[in-house]
Amino acid sequence: MQGKRIVLGIGGGIAAYKTPALVRQLVAAGMDVIPVMTESANHFVTTTVLTTFSGHRVRNDLWDLEAERSMGHIELARWADTLLIAPATANLIARLANGLSNDLLTTLYLATTAPTVVAPAMNLEMWNHSATKRNIGVLETDGVSIIGPDYGEQACGETGPGRMLEIEDIVSHLLVTTDPIDTPMTGLRVLVTAGPTRESIDPVRYITNSSSGKQGYAIAEAARDAGAIVTLVSGPVALPPPKGVQQINIISAAEMKSAVLDIANDIDIMFGVAAVADYRPTHSEPHKIKKMYRNGSPMSIELVENDDILASVAALSDPPYLVGFAAETQSLVKNAVQKRERKCLDAIVVNDVSDHTIGFDSDENEVTLLHAHGETTFDKSPKAEIASKLVAAISELYTSNRT
Ligand code: C5P
Repeated sequence: MQGKRIVLGIGGGIAAYKTPALVRQLVAAGMDVIPVMTESANHFVTTTVLTTFSGHRVRNDLWDLEAERSMGHIELARWADTLLIAPATANLIARLANGLSNDLLTTLYLATTAPTVVAPAMNLEMWNHSATKRNIGVLETDGVSIIGPDYGEQACGETGPGRMLEIEDIVSHLLVTTDPIDTPMTGLRVLVTAGPTRESIDPVRYITNSSSGKQGYAIAEAARDAGAIVTLVSGPVALPPPKGVQQINIISAAEMKSAVLDIANDIDIMFGVAAVADYRPTHSEPHKIKKMYRNGSPMSIELVENDDILASVAALSDPPYLVGFAAETQSLVKNAVQKRERKCLDAIVVNDVSDHTIGFDSDENEVTLLHAHGETTFDKSPKAEIASKLVAAISELYTSNRT
């Protein structure tokens, strides 16, 4: 996206300290950036550093007549190919949602016809507040792309949703959304679970399965490339984290369920690709189980069923569009149809794991996508190709489901 012109609106939140690095990366990616700060942003970052990195005079005052003479605010609004607002505080989001134009940045928002991308950043309770949710809903209705926030540790010491999306993710979002109308998942928040889970028997032993995570990771990358903001909740695998994707690593099914439920309310589409262990040991021994105490007598491990993660998400009052995966060895379609209904899924992807050239741990796959209106088979091909086709098909189904 060489030469794309970005007006970077900076709100007065602690995450503003990251904006010099954001400007550097946007410029390094070939973009021309003019920073515009709100009054409170001046408390977190200096105009000097932003001017140095952007190569433009920073704008922070609607009444700066000298700056207005060189480029008036309406001219600046027309100059922008994209208005990126990062970080967007709760206050700034409220002002944008209500069409206030009481400073330069909010005036630019009303005056520009360029696509607007907003990266919220605030304390988790502020993010979860119904007023903020309402304002975000208004911005979305007005056609603004909301990217993030991320889940994680916050400046206030709490952990949860509210961190500004990582800089790399913001940049890659702007890079992939070269034409927001043509990228099928632009602005959608997609959650992917991938890999196996490990259910602990004792500190050194566990129950798991041979899922490699390859298909889930490929789907996370395909959704990212389609313009989505992607969170990947991953079990233990030997794959590098995909770039531009927020990753949460977990070990057990219980941890995966908790990570998923923490963010599921803010998700548009969920792909449950993980091979979640159906059972876990009733007790995980605190110390390594010793062979010598057993005197050769048989040993058994009592198992208890894990909660079904997809079913727990389906039970939410406003669940995301849910795509499950079914690894089957017989009666593929019949079992998958039943599974889709039992788990209240919108769609299910089934593959034959008895064929070792596809599915678990192999690089290729052949799958059938089943949904309420029919089925499509994607012939044997690399998992990345299967992923792109699935993402394209699901974004179409998602869109038709909404209209
Ligand atoms: O019932 P089965 O395990 O075959 O269902 C597979 C699908 O359900 C996958 O999408 C998997 O991610 C999901 N699943 C789940 N929670 C479980 C077990 C499976 O979400 N405890």
